[in-house]
Amino acid sequence: MSSRENEHPATPSLEREPYRISQDAVATIVIFGATGDLAGRKLIPAIYNLWTAGFLPKRLAVVGVARRDKTDNDFRTEMCEALKRHSRTGHGESETCDPFVRNLFYYRTDFSDAQGFAGLKRRLAEIEQSGGFCGRRLYYLAVGPEFFGPIVDALGEAGLVTPPGEEPWTRVVIEKPFGRDLTSAQELNARLLKVLHEDQIYRIDHYLGKETVQNIFAFRFGNAIFEPLFNQHYVDHVQITVAETVGMEQRRGAFYDKTGALRDVIQNHALQLLCLAAMEPPTRFQATEIHNEKVKVLQSVVLPTQAPLRTWCVRGQYAEGPGFRGYLSEEGVAPDSLTETYVALRLYVDNWRWAGVPFFIRTGKALKRRVTEIAVQFKRVPTCCFRDRGLDLPEPNVLVFRIQPDESISLTFNTKPPGMEFRLQHVPMDFTYHGTFKSGLPEAYERLLLDALRGDSTLFMRADEIESAWRICTSILDVWRTAPPPELYRPGTWGPSEADQIFVGCEGAWRQPE
Ligand code: BG6
Repeated sequence: MSSRENEHPATPSLEREPYRISQDAVATIVIFGATGDLAGRKLIPAIYNLWTAGFLPKRLAVVGVARRDKTDNDFRTEMCEALKRHSRTGHGESETCDPFVRNLFYYRTDFSDAQGFAGLKRRLAEIEQSGGFCGRRLYYLAVGPEFFGPIVDALGEAGLVTPPGEEPWTRVVIEKPFGRDLTSAQELNARLLKVLHEDQIYRIDHYLGKETVQNIFAFRFGNAIFEPLFNQHYVDHVQITVAETVGMEQRRGAFYDKTGALRDVIQNHALQLLCLAAMEPPTRFQATEIHNEKVKVLQSVVLPTQAPLRTWCVRGQYAEGPGFRGYLSEEGVAPDSLTETYVALRLYVDNWRWAGVPFFIRTGKALKRRVTEIAVQFKRVPTCCFRDRGLDLPEPNVLVFRIQPDESISLTFNTKPPGMEFRLQHVPMDFTYHGTFKSGLPEAYERLLLDALRGDSTLFMRADEIESAWRICTSILDVWRTAPPPELYRPGTWGPSEADQIFVGCEGAWRQPE
């Protein structure tokens, strides 16, 4: 054993436990909102993929709960169809999904009906008894946010929640959006914590389950050579982009119009990416340590709210253009809506590591490309020794975590192209998932569902993390209350041209990823 290992004696940890869940330990998965979009597109396919890959035992119970009348068989048939369309492992026409869907059950109730929950309790007991399941339960709330509180209250009142630390355990996964602002998030946390212990609550942000997002931990804290550069001495600025080409997709207008890009993407996905890019190395790769470090980042964020709004924040709304009828004409959207479909922000993480380094964050719908990335732009060399050869300061190095699509990590640097002339050319050094790993990437929901079943909350969000993110977004929402309406932008572009202004006084401009 090396002296290093001696310093850290083996302690029992989650990572030493198996990732595969055994037959006698598997929890009943109860999905509220089982007839909704998320269940059919993501959750059931994720459970199916975990099951096919052997992470879940052959016999398990997945109970769909929703308000529509349906039999077990109806639900199974519908989920078979959903698997054909959405399963990553390509559940084809010719295959039979029978062996899997026999594990699916359906129960109808309103989400705040005490009788309904009493009935659910009996139904779950029946299913678990006849299947010989251990009675552990993972409740997944894939419902509108207005039902999070009532469902958790009703679970508590019906005696469907085991006290923390007792077997068979109870855990609850809560989907986003978690609140609409700081106050509502605090109220929701307080309400949930009356029934559940923090350790039983798994607040999901599916971005944290993406392979490429988890790889930021591996890259930053598994290599000695990059971390010393991640600070204000070497980094000029960081750009975080979560860009989508889709608009309301004929189905999301009503939800989106009440939400907007800030609440839909910045409060969760984009700020989580900021946390991973900016956090200190955790002492251990465990939930508490990771959450502590992320909260410190969020608490250090400052917005230049004293400066004119346009210099640090731009909101936009897509107008009519190729393939789009314009946000205001989308179904479910108010014709005079001020909801933003684009946000660009400049903020600072005011701690010793990052003081003075601008973080530029943008997200939007109907943009030019679908791309999510974190680009760390380093400072230029201090002086140019190639001036005599007619060259200017070389291009700065850029490290890009491409979260999706074309998942990769790339570092650009300057080289001399072959030939008699001395020139510099900016070239990339690329690691691509596609080129290196032959297996496909698991879906985020597979990782997260398995982690919730294993009791690992590292990739979920703690109450104070959510609230700290809301503190940032609520101060923006407050400024917007008296701000001019969103800038219009043409679909298929990189957003409103006003967003370029937020680079004023800094080196660089928005990247235009290919
Ligand atoms: C969701 C948002 O959380 O994330 C959607 O509600 C957005 O508006 C989606 O389209 C993006 O997720 P992904 O995984 O497709 O990048």
